[in-house]
Amino acid sequence: MAKGTRDITNLILNVARDVRKEIGTDVASEFTQRRRWPISCTVGPGLEGAIACLSKVGYVDGSHGLLVYRGYDIFDLCARSTFEEVTYLLLKGRLPSARQLNSFKKKLAAYRKAPSTLRLLMGFPVENMNTMAALRLGANLKRQEFTYIDRESARPDVSSAISTDEDSIPMETPPRGEPHAIYEFDRKQYHARNIRRDRLAGPSGFDSCCHLIAGIPTIAAAISRLRRGEMPIEPDPDLSHAANYMYMLTGKRPSPLDERIMDVALILHADHGMNASTFATLVVASTLSDIYISVGSGIAALSGPLHGGANEEVLRQLRRIGDASNADEWCKKTLARKHKVFGFGHRVYKTYDPRARVLKPLVAYLAKTHPEAKPLLKTAEALEEAVVSTLGAEKGIYPNVDFYSGLIYTCMGLPTDMFTSTFAVARVSGWTARVLEYLEMNRIFRPRALYVGPLNKEYVPIEQR
Ligand code: ACO
Repeated sequence: MAKGTRDITNLILNVARDVRKEIGTDVASEFTQRRRWPISCTVGPGLEGAIACLSKVGYVDGSHGLLVYRGYDIFDLCARSTFEEVTYLLLKGRLPSARQLNSFKKKLAAYRKAPSTLRLLMGFPVENMNTMAALRLGANLKRQEFTYIDRESARPDVSSAISTDEDSIPMETPPRGEPHAIYEFDRKQYHARNIRRDRLAGPSGFDSCCHLIAGIPTIAAAISRLRRGEMPIEPDPDLSHAANYMYMLTGKRPSPLDERIMDVALILHADHGMNASTFATLVVASTLSDIYISVGSGIAALSGPLHGGANEEVLRQLRRIGDASNADEWCKKTLARKHKVFGFGHRVYKTYDPRARVLKPLVAYLAKTHPEAKPLLKTAEALEEAVVSTLGAEKGIYPNVDFYSGLIYTCMGLPTDMFTSTFAVARVSGWTARVLEYLEMNRIFRPRALYVGPLNKEYVPIEQR
């Protein structure tokens, strides 16, 4: 292992040791217990506190600041694993053997090339489009790589899925819980169909998930190059997932250090509970729409500045602040105007986001060899101090994953308008893993709204208004 990459591992292990000392290891909570439907929970606006489903994919402990994928804590995975292995873990539920990992990597390498998708994509004015809008389009176009026959034969069999229209159920009827959900989708029939689907390279099974996970980086990199008037670059079959993404984006094979840091960043962003983009993906998949369209919806949800779009806003914000000495004053003014500071706060974490804990020392490490990033890092540190001293204890507002990721990508030569797409390159693993899991017991998502408008209004013909 080269010295730089060994240093990265040690930095992460140090973070892990400090966190474990701070919070201990016994962090099981009421949210890690299996429960039977119907589940009682207190729901706030924005579905805060609502439980959408049971899942074994991953767990976010917001009060301790812990993130777990399939039982493994994120620090261990960042220190010891790779994005390919973590993706296999998320999709399959277990770490692969060496042989399984090798064949998984071969599958990704085969799916990484996307010539027909790129040809279709280049028919659109990508250079003038929002990068996430173009990526969403690319995800949908990728579906066209399958033949018409594949697409039709792999369609889910809708005859065994019974959708519900909750409006046909009186408001006073309480949720009926699991028996109703089983009625919703026949489990035996599903499994029989799912096995068939797995064998097909069609648009709803495991292979399609791999097809998207491998293809999204190729599409994102091509979008970046087209926006800069350059032609897309073909993936290199000898490079890892992280290295290939950087190579296709920048045209340069990354150093082992940059590859390792990108790999860690991808692992950190791969999954994160029932966040907005994962939920959007699941909602669309729950209608038995296919995985390409579902992932397209995840990309759309991720693009917003309150979610994945925040990493781009953070960089713009740091550039606006200009110098570390302005951070305190800028923060006071921003909060006085009741504006949000990008890169801070989280719906679930009311403590330091573990992903930001890992990224922060990595930025400091990278800045040693990237002097141009030092002023930005100093401004970021000063801003963190200003925000945390004002809102940390009072409102539980600390840096989130987006605060330091942009600085890392800047050091590695990624253009700012590709930060959110880079988030999508990683999160597609979590989206697809959760869809595969959810479809095993699918029930269409259908919350309801409380109607607070008027009733019994009398219709007035237009000529009398
Ligand atoms: N800056 C200043 N104040 C904040 C911030 C922030 N970044 N985040 C929350 N607050 C304050 C709110 O003003 C509110 O104060 P109030 O109670 O006095 O009205 C309180 O904290 C609660 O904030 P909400 O917006 O209600 O919290 P919510 O859970 O709905 O939102 C969110 C979470 C969207 C992430 C929010 O913290 C935010 O907008 N942050 C900035 C954008 C950002 O960095 N997003 C990336 C999140 S990580 C990710 O999606 C990958």
